[in-house]
Amino acid sequence: MKPVKVGVLGLGTVGGGTVNVLQRNAAEIARRAGREIIITRASARDLGRKRICTTQGIALTTDPRQIIDDPDIDIVLELIGGTDFAKELVLKAIANGKHIVTANKALIALHGNEIFAKAGAKGVIVAFEAAVAGGIPIIKAIREGLSGNQIQWLAGIINGTGNFILTEMRDKGRDFADVLAEAQALGYAEADPTFDVEGIDAGHKLTILASIAFGIPLQFDKVYTEGITRITRADVEYAEELGYRIKHLGIARRTFEGIELRVHPTLIPQRRLIANVDGVMNAVLVKGDAVGATLYYGAGAGAEPTASAVVADVIDVVRALTGDPENRVPHLAFQPEALSDIPVLAQGQVRTAYYLRLAAEDKPGVLADVTRILAAHQISIEAIIQKEPHENKTSVPIIMLTQTTLEQEMNAAIAEIEQLTTVSGKVNRIRLETLG
Ligand code: NDP
Ligand code: HSE
Repeated sequence: MKPVKVGVLGLGTVGGGTVNVLQRNAAEIARRAGREIIITRASARDLGRKRICTTQGIALTTDPRQIIDDPDIDIVLELIGGTDFAKELVLKAIANGKHIVTANKALIALHGNEIFAKAGAKGVIVAFEAAVAGGIPIIKAIREGLSGNQIQWLAGIINGTGNFILTEMRDKGRDFADVLAEAQALGYAEADPTFDVEGIDAGHKLTILASIAFGIPLQFDKVYTEGITRITRADVEYAEELGYRIKHLGIARRTFEGIELRVHPTLIPQRRLIANVDGVMNAVLVKGDAVGATLYYGAGAGAEPTASAVVADVIDVVRALTGDPENRVPHLAFQPEALSDIPVLAQGQVRTAYYLRLAAEDKPGVLADVTRILAAHQISIEAIIQKEPHENKTSVPIIMLTQTTLEQEMNAAIAEIEQLTTVSGKVNRIRLETLG
């Protein structure tokens, strides 16, 4: 059979890693795919730049449009990133009848509904395993391995850069900015690293996971996102003292009222496996009604781990080339006409437990005032600790864990606590999940 010809758009971290893996494992890959897969063309902005891969035998261009318009190319790998130009390229490639493999979660989360509709109409595949959790085959696991289940919830550490920063800060006491610079140098971070540290990248990934888990359209605009920039050393230490670890989680949960979609720092019990996922590693817990809880772990970013997912998609596409397009695995796991309009809940409607830290005057009655406000909002306290006053300070840190409550009740309670004259500054709140 004729070899399958691949055009690679972007030769950076992921593109370079993909070229390396496709070339190094070419023989093994051909044995799996049933056909030889060769990269004939590739593009980058600056062809003089030093690359992590060799490009011998590959025709290079600075213009990716030439590749998507080349009738010889069967599969286009979109590894440029961003949403505007990438969308233009992908839609044009689909119109030209090319199959697409992309690692671009922003593109899929924001424009996936349109892209999949156009791909479906044209009978081409858009594969995106690398878009979520780097090298972990989580899309395949949920879309195919768990397809007999009703997925109840999933929770994951789905940003490698953020987890790397939190781990280095906790274990080595390093500065946030210093660790972020290292993550950028290692190729983990997004072109705009605020996407990593403000939870936007994790929000893109959660959007995709929720869609394939619950059979709903991609709805990034409904995801609540909170980053890691406000986590303090004190909170990390108090959490540890209480038996918890702070992780940046993406959580999607099906409830009777609708679906919770949220990304935020979260206290989780230290005994959970996922609490011990450190550095650039990612992990996703998925709870299905039949299988129970399942856990997927692996490198969440970096050249070859991500290439592993890109190449697996390329092989899947090649295997599907000879099959009937009607019988392919649907892009979003459920048949396009069977997507559900189950609502995504506003963050105020979410139910979770909380860690609260506040600075209060060290005198009788203060704690009673705080607990009275919480009780008035039907918020039960699970644990409470009062620390020694800091040197030269009259206020004492009070740390509380609450039971599960409605977020809008917690918002109202916090606003009232912050009004107390005996409480100074803001109440620091971190959500808590037992993931049981
Ligand atoms: P890089 O910045 O390392 O690489 C981007 C590549 O695209 C470069 O080769 C660059 O050219 C080229 N490029 C950028 N802009 C243009 C443009 N306007 N026109 C033509 N070519 C362009 O990014 P990554 O490899 O890190 O990321 C690529 C995609 O993969 C993104 O969507 C990212 O979110 C995703 N991803 C990244 C992971 C990672 O670990 N880095 C993991 C999983 C997904 P040049 O090299 O000449 O500048
Ligand atoms: N910037 C992303 C991360 C790359 O750190 O997780 C992988 O998607």
